[in-house]
Amino acid sequence: MYYGCDYNPEQWLHEPAALDRDITLMKKANINSATLGMFSWSSLEPEENQFRFDWLRSVIDRLYAAEIAVILGTPSGARPHWLAAKYPEVLRVNARREQQLFGDRHNHCYTSPAYRTRIGIINRRLAEEFAAHPAVELWHLSNEYGGECHCENCQKAFREYLENRYETLDALNYAWWNTFWSKNISSWDQIESPSPIGEGSVHGLNLDWRRFVTHQTKDFMLYERDCLKEVNPDIPFTTNLMMSSEDSSMDPGLNYWQLARELDVVSWDSYPSWHLPGYKMLALESDPTEAVDDYRRASEVAFQHDLFRSLGGGKPFLLMESTPSNTNWQPISKLKKPGMNITSSLQAVAHGSDSVQYFQWRKSRGSFEKFHGAVVSHRESAEDRVFSEAAELGAKLNKLESAQVFGSRISAGAALYFDWENRWAFEDSKGPRNDSRKAYVETVKAHYYALWSQGADIDIVHSGSDFSVYKLIIVPMGYLMPEDTAARLASFVEAGGNLITTYFTGMVNESDLCYSNGTPGPLTEVLGIEVSEIDPLYPGERNSMKTPASGVSAGLKLPEYSLRDYCELIRPQTAEVLAEYGADFYAGSPALTRNSYGRGQAFHIAARSEDSLHIELYRKLLEECDLLDHCHGWNLPAGIDIRFRGDAVFIMNYSADNQVIEIPEDRAYRYLHEQLDCSGRLELPAYATEVLIKE
Ligand code: GAL
Repeated sequence: MYYGCDYNPEQWLHEPAALDRDITLMKKANINSATLGMFSWSSLEPEENQFRFDWLRSVIDRLYAAEIAVILGTPSGARPHWLAAKYPEVLRVNARREQQLFGDRHNHCYTSPAYRTRIGIINRRLAEEFAAHPAVELWHLSNEYGGECHCENCQKAFREYLENRYETLDALNYAWWNTFWSKNISSWDQIESPSPIGEGSVHGLNLDWRRFVTHQTKDFMLYERDCLKEVNPDIPFTTNLMMSSEDSSMDPGLNYWQLARELDVVSWDSYPSWHLPGYKMLALESDPTEAVDDYRRASEVAFQHDLFRSLGGGKPFLLMESTPSNTNWQPISKLKKPGMNITSSLQAVAHGSDSVQYFQWRKSRGSFEKFHGAVVSHRESAEDRVFSEAAELGAKLNKLESAQVFGSRISAGAALYFDWENRWAFEDSKGPRNDSRKAYVETVKAHYYALWSQGADIDIVHSGSDFSVYKLIIVPMGYLMPEDTAARLASFVEAGGNLITTYFTGMVNESDLCYSNGTPGPLTEVLGIEVSEIDPLYPGERNSMKTPASGVSAGLKLPEYSLRDYCELIRPQTAEVLAEYGADFYAGSPALTRNSYGRGQAFHIAARSEDSLHIELYRKLLEECDLLDHCHGWNLPAGIDIRFRGDAVFIMNYSADNQVIEIPEDRAYRYLHEQLDCSGRLELPAYATEVLIKE
């Protein structure tokens, strides 16, 4: 278990006593790890080939002596001035073909030979200096890989990538449907990456560009890794991934399924907008008149935790960054209320994290992040609220070490489909709606909420996953549905699985070409339906669905649900109709269907509905599949979430009210924090978490 933080001691080298004070405070806060070096390049190599490792060695030695493990970063996330001045090709070129000036961070070209040469030199030197140091337990490659570059080196690499993928221009022209608008390509060097001043309307090109950016970033990451592993192959490595935002400008734009399969350990950085009215990301202009819904926000964060656990194949992941109080880059840097830091940190552990790491240990005195939350404030006081809570959490995590939590796996019988290629292709599509209500990520999260809020453990899956290990799989808006994925979903149902798909599923193949047998393409037989049209609704427009006059089927008595945004018109082939539309020219036609297929069943939700439909439908299926057994007996008030990992039960209060929880009579638990049996009623203050240990 790692409990620690990003630590940037190079900012205080002029004040050697700061290190002593830091270590004293770290011990007080029960910190056992520190992540160093991600932004240290100019302190490690102030001029080309002039290396200064002494300061880092002395920090690592001191931490080691204090029994604090080191996660050592490679510095490629921010380059020194001299490097950009001497090798301008390392500076990114944006989609408008403008080369950027030196500045900011995370903005180097992943293709640039000069950048690779220089990062290769510094990484090898770092490894030679520190890979044998007993304090160094994990490499942390770069920082939040992301973004793209459109320079000539990247164009060349993109063309090579395409040549490799398609072999002939005929194949490429076909896949991109280039006869449309006379786009046929007759020579590889006519290909250019998408640009606002050039090509933007060829969907196949846009999709392949996104694939290429992932490919190139992964290639760079593996190059960084190899330079370190050449020196000592035994130290595992990670890179810190980011959350998937609805707002694509805040998203790294990478297919993490591709990156994650290379990592020894998956880790991620969590910065949710706790206490924000409504539950949208701040960047999406949350409605200030909506109530604060931290329970719903918790579901969004839980989705991310489950995603990162699934990205690592179910192994424990690491929460690499989180703020102990506020996040200064958000439009409003709200404080975490008392209890919230402990609760959000333990939520990560409950979902499979083997760490809680903060950004940052100590606030910088100057520049961009001087007002970002930190364990240690500018006044360096152990009496601060934030510090005290961090210390309290450290003590709790230490106690958890004996509860068979860390290292343990969570086994989920339900899976939710979330696929980056699907996201990119869907978001790029023109029509049937082009406004913010397309909402792929938001839709996935809404379906996640319906599972999570009932206590289910959930894995996240993608087009390449093994589906056979689940009992229930939900595919919201599986627009891009490769034939082999569809075939594996069909086998899953045939063998007894429960599949649920929604509107906008099975429309295009992996080249974003519409299926010529119509929608849902290769899922037609398993779903037993054909989609004939799709009607997008204007923002205030509503339809409804309800059980048909012929009565209840599949044991489901559904009330009337309100519908918005999308209504598919479907013709059942072999499927039975569970609900029909209530209005418009398609009133009375199917809105929800169920098809028996082999030993299993496949449902199709043809329209975007309110949450209650998903909640009711999934509850029935989760119960039928015995996937809620672990929650039986717990009747929790609104705003409380309960999770089980190892011998621990995490009861988390995401409401602003004190709550009382009834412990089921047939269970024996003790409190984590004291050797006391826990039975009867448990009082949980606002935003607090109680951890119980099974006796
Ligand atoms: C992360 C980044 C950190 C720090 C943090 C502030 O995205 O990895 O270096 O900048 O944001 O919230």
